[in-house]
Amino acid sequence: MMFDVCVVGSANIDLVVAVEHLPEPGETVLGRNYREHAGGKGLNQAVAAARAGARVAMVGALGHDAAGDMLAGVLVGEGIDAGNVARVDEPTGRALIGVADTGENSIIVAPGANASVTLNSLVACRVVLTQLEVPLATVQHALQLGRESGAITLLNPAPAAALPHELLRLCDVVVPNQHEEAQLGGIDALLASGVRVVVSTWGARGALVRTRHGERMIEPWPVQPVDTTGAGDTFCGVLATALAAAGSLDLDTVAGAASRAAAAAALSTTRAGAVPSIPTAAEVDVFVRATSAD
Ligand code: RIB
Repeated sequence: MMFDVCVVGSANIDLVVAVEHLPEPGETVLGRNYREHAGGKGLNQAVAAARAGARVAMVGALGHDAAGDMLAGVLVGEGIDAGNVARVDEPTGRALIGVADTGENSIIVAPGANASVTLNSLVACRVVLTQLEVPLATVQHALQLGRESGAITLLNPAPAAALPHELLRLCDVVVPNQHEEAQLGGIDALLASGVRVVVSTWGARGALVRTRHGERMIEPWPVQPVDTTGAGDTFCGVLATALAAAGSLDLDTVAGAASRAAAAAALSTTRAGAVPSIPTAAEVDVFVRATSAD
């Protein structure tokens, strides 16, 4: 079986509280509307790819607990291959999330089982997609195996961290937000490390696709955001799906894929939660048609 996208990454239960504003250090704020959702950057990206129409496999780890059962059920429900999602003697990952009335969020992650994610071999796939909520050695191994197998390797360097040159040179595509981009020394430094394409996401201001040969601005899709949690993950999952289908990293192809990814991400911000907010391909089609007609 050839998968379109293999996601190597985290799965969390998100514990979400709506707040008027996010607390400053040392400040306590009263919240409202406590909710628990499926989340985690890896799971969100896997679900985004599956809802975009990709055949998806996930490599991850869940605890032997009710939260692990719940997330295993999400994988089954989304049709994601979970043959390489281990059950381990650690609690399933949790993320504590405050969502402000502006739609912005603040997140603390307790990795739990995600700290145990390892990889022995890689399923056959067109794109390997990974992030930084699982051990760095596992991320690098996934990229290495992806590179050796001829897959497109895509890294979302979130949460922000400085990364070794040996890891960056294994990435075909890196998708940072502005904070992560600064942490990695900027787009030029990434391209100089051997990355072929940088897709820099700018939230409500769109995105920028850059290679050593040129760049394309991706215009933002206009929406009224209520919760931006998981928008970056939606972008990455949909981008990976489009690149798996195109099989090319030329500038115009990546720009087209990034525009579709930006539409899906914008739509996700109009709904609450991470996994619950991720749109299907049909929903993105309707949104793109309606927005383009305005
Ligand atoms: O990117 C959003 C995700 O970050 C949340 O779902 C949370 O689980 C954290 O991993």
